[in-house]
Amino acid sequence: MPDSAPYSLLIQHAAQVLTLAGAAPDRPLAGPALSGWTIIERGYVACLGDKIVAVGAMNELNLARLGPETRLIDATGCVVMPGLVECHTHLVFGGNRADEFERKLRGESYLDILASGGGILSTVRATRAASEAELLENALHHLEGFRRYGITTLEAKSGYGLDRDTELRLVRVAREAGHRQPVRVVPTFLGAHVVPPEFKEAGPRAYIDFLLREVLSDLKGEAAFVDIFCEQGAFPLDVARYYLEQAHKMGFGLKIHAEQLHDLGGCEMAAELGATSVDHCDYLTPAAAARIAKLSQGRTVAVLLPLVPLFLRQEKYAAGREFIDNGLPVAVSTDFNPGSCPSKNLWLALSVACLKMGLTPKEAVAAATLNAAWAIGQQHDCGSLEPGKRADVLVLNVGSVAEIPYWLGENPMRDVVIGGQH
Ligand code: NIG
Ligand code: FE
Repeated sequence: MPDSAPYSLLIQHAAQVLTLAGAAPDRPLAGPALSGWTIIERGYVACLGDKIVAVGAMNELNLARLGPETRLIDATGCVVMPGLVECHTHLVFGGNRADEFERKLRGESYLDILASGGGILSTVRATRAASEAELLENALHHLEGFRRYGITTLEAKSGYGLDRDTELRLVRVAREAGHRQPVRVVPTFLGAHVVPPEFKEAGPRAYIDFLLREVLSDLKGEAAFVDIFCEQGAFPLDVARYYLEQAHKMGFGLKIHAEQLHDLGGCEMAAELGATSVDHCDYLTPAAAARIAKLSQGRTVAVLLPLVPLFLRQEKYAAGREFIDNGLPVAVSTDFNPGSCPSKNLWLALSVACLKMGLTPKEAVAAATLNAAWAIGQQHDCGSLEPGKRADVLVLNVGSVAEIPYWLGENPMRDVVIGGQH
C-alpha cells in the first residue's frame, strides 16, 4: 500500500488517546517510564488494513487521506487506547470449582484443598474427562467473554492434563481457539503445574524428567514458553531450576509461578535463567525485586495478579509500588482459571492493582498493555498505538485515564477493534 492510500479506518475526536508510545524499543517500561508515556488530548488513530498507520492530535489529521472507503468511528468524550493484553490465563479446562468456593468460605486454605486431592487436581480430573470438542467450546466461550472486556491478545496455559496426550490436547485447543475468532492466543506449556497422581510415588523430579523426555520435544513451534508452579505442594526450587535450565537449552522462553504463597526464591532463580516473566510475586520482597531488575537488566517482567489474593481471601498482595520504585517492570493480569480467579475482568484487576498494590492509573494501563505484551513476547505487534503495530484499538465509555480504574467492577468497553475490524 502506498503511503498516501486512504485510511480504511479512522477513530477520531477522542478526549484522550493513550498511546503508550515512545518507549525504549529493547525493554519493557520500568520506573518513571511506566507512567511517562504520552496522552494526546483530542486525538485520532488511523488504520490501513490490519495496521495502525498514524496517531496524533485532531488538528494534525491529514484530511487528504480520508476517502469514501474510510470508515469513521466518532470517539467524542471517550478514551481511546490499545487493546488489552491478557498475559497470564489458564484458558482451557473442564468443569468448575464452585463447590470449593464454598469450602474456602468455610475457612479451608488453597493448599489444604490441593493436599486433599482437590484444587488443581479436581480440575485435572474434569479436564481429562472432557472431549476435545467440549474443551474447544469452553475456550471459545471464555474468549468471547474476554473480547467483550477489550482483550485483544491473550496468553493461554496448559496444565490441567498432566499426562502427555491431555497436555498436548490443551495446547492444540488453545491454538485452534485462536484461529476460530479474532483474539490472538499465545499458548504456554504448564505441564509442570503440579505432580499428577500417576507420579505421586516417584515424585516431582521423576515427573519433570518425563516431561523433558516425552513431551517438550513435541511442543517445538506449538508453544513459545514453558512455565512451572514453584510452591509448597507443587514443585520445589531445585526441581524448578533443573526444569527451566533444560527447557531453556531446548529453546523455550521461560516463565514461573512463584512467591504466590511462600517466599521460596523462585522468581530470582528464574530471572537468573533469563525468564521473560515471573508471575504472582505476592511474597517477593522489594529487595529481591531490585536484584531481579538489576540482574535481568530490566528485561524480566513481574506479572501481578491482584484478583488472586482477593479470591483466595489472602491478606498479602504483591508490593507493586515498591517493585516499580526499585526498577522492576510490572504487568497486570487476571490469572483467569477455575480455582484462584474465575474472573475475566481485567479492568477490575487494574482497580485492585491500584487499591492494594499501589499502582497509579497510568501505571496500571501500561501494565495491562505494553508491559503485558513484553511478558509474552508480543511487544513488536501489540500493546501500544504506534504506526506498524496491529490495529487493536479500544474506545472506552470514560473520558480520562483516571476514570479507568475508578469505576470499580464496570466494563468500560464501547468499541473493540481487532486487526482493523470491529
Ligand atoms: O496461577 N497457582 C497455580 N496455578 C493457578 C491456579 C490453578 C488452579 O487453582 O486451578 C494460579 O493461581
Ligand atoms: Fe496462573
